[in-house]
Amino acid sequence: MAQCPSKPLLDFEKFAAGTPHALIGQLRGAHRLLWEDDEFATGGHWLVFQQADIDQVLQSPALFSSNFGPLLDDFPEPLLVEQRESLTFMDRPRHRQYRSLVETAFRQTAMRQREPMMRALAASILDEVLPRGECEFVQEVAMQLPTRVIFAVLGVPAEDFGRVADLTNTLALADDPEFAENRQAGFIASGLLMDYGTSLAASHRAAPRDSLTMTLLGSQAEGRMLSDLDFGRFFNNLIVGGTETTRNTLAGAMYEFIRRPEQYALLQNDLALVASAVEEVLRFRNPVVYLRRTATQDQDLGGQRIARGAKVVCVLGSPNRDPRFFERPDEFDIRRPLEHTRRHYRTFGGGPHFCLGIQQARLNLTVMIGEMARRLHQPRLLAEPRQARSTFMDGFKELRIAFTPGPGGPGTPQPRTSP
Ligand code: HEM
Repeated sequence: MAQCPSKPLLDFEKFAAGTPHALIGQLRGAHRLLWEDDEFATGGHWLVFQQADIDQVLQSPALFSSNFGPLLDDFPEPLLVEQRESLTFMDRPRHRQYRSLVETAFRQTAMRQREPMMRALAASILDEVLPRGECEFVQEVAMQLPTRVIFAVLGVPAEDFGRVADLTNTLALADDPEFAENRQAGFIASGLLMDYGTSLAASHRAAPRDSLTMTLLGSQAEGRMLSDLDFGRFFNNLIVGGTETTRNTLAGAMYEFIRRPEQYALLQNDLALVASAVEEVLRFRNPVVYLRRTATQDQDLGGQRIARGAKVVCVLGSPNRDPRFFERPDEFDIRRPLEHTRRHYRTFGGGPHFCLGIQQARLNLTVMIGEMARRLHQPRLLAEPRQARSTFMDGFKELRIAFTPGPGGPGTPQPRTSP
């Protein structure tokens, strides 16, 4: 067995400047699967790098369960029991039933209805910062659209935005001392977010209004109506799934455009490229570093014997930069054919837990990247970005930039078409 005495990959130091893609490329070239030691109960986990093996794991929930969650962490027993009632920790057949309740709200039809509201939101977010000629992009722009959209969908009152956003940060960035004192604080934030969702359900029942919250409260699963607590769990999943991921991708997009002004110029000169730019950003800056599954029985995977109970960790960014699928994989190029990129990246996972909000994610990125390309010119760094401390989420906690407000700044290329 390819035993390794230390941590070849999932080590905070190796992620200090973001996902170490070059290292992942080397590991992928040298190992099909690789055992990595860790500090948790099983003493280690299997890293999976190949696209086919990742697909095999994610598409075989009977062999590789989600029942212990997508993170490496061992959840304390009472918390694990509670977490198993939420979508991301469920296996079939329960998972199918619960997931189907929220799917409609994130299908194409819903997106078409939501798009005008999103375009107006994106414009107003940029209106706030553009006149200043500079901003802290993560908090002031990247976080705003996905958060405001999902809050609008769920009927979160405006006065609670800050509180819910803070809890989400603590939970998603529990390894970063700027957001959480320790991992325990992350677990507590998760509980508080669920409590908030539960009270949001109660307030909707008391004063019914048009939102996904109301729809869910009128739904049934396992032969009974959803309770306020059931809704609280959905709330937690949707807020966490929908905000941190998208904000990190958007901030990553801005950073890549700053590093490659010629790519930004291409986009500004031809807004028809927004769609392929979105897919390239998703390929190149995949925010979710890995997904963990747990083997339900002794079995073989990629020529290795995997023991029952072993943690199997799919490295999502590995196929995204595999030269077998992408020419010049380490180059950010928004002209790549969109369908090809979509087919080969694994940014949204796979199998039954495949990202439920993929249409929402794409639309968030399309709307904001399009709006930026039209109105925000010559972006540049005011300081080196600060990376959040995590081996699970790749993202900046601070990205200070300057720009020339548009339209029509001096020397600014003008867009030719609308998306
Ligand atoms: C760039 C943006 C996004 C990325 C990269 C992303 C990525 C992912 C990934 C990798 C998973 C699989 C988790 C697993 O297998 O355990 C997932 C699941 C999920 N995502 Fe997303 N996501 C994004 C945006 C969104 C948005 C906007 C929403 C909702 C509004 C959302 C809601 C969810 C939910 C609810 C799940 C759990 C699905 C399930 O367990 O069946 N995501 N996402």
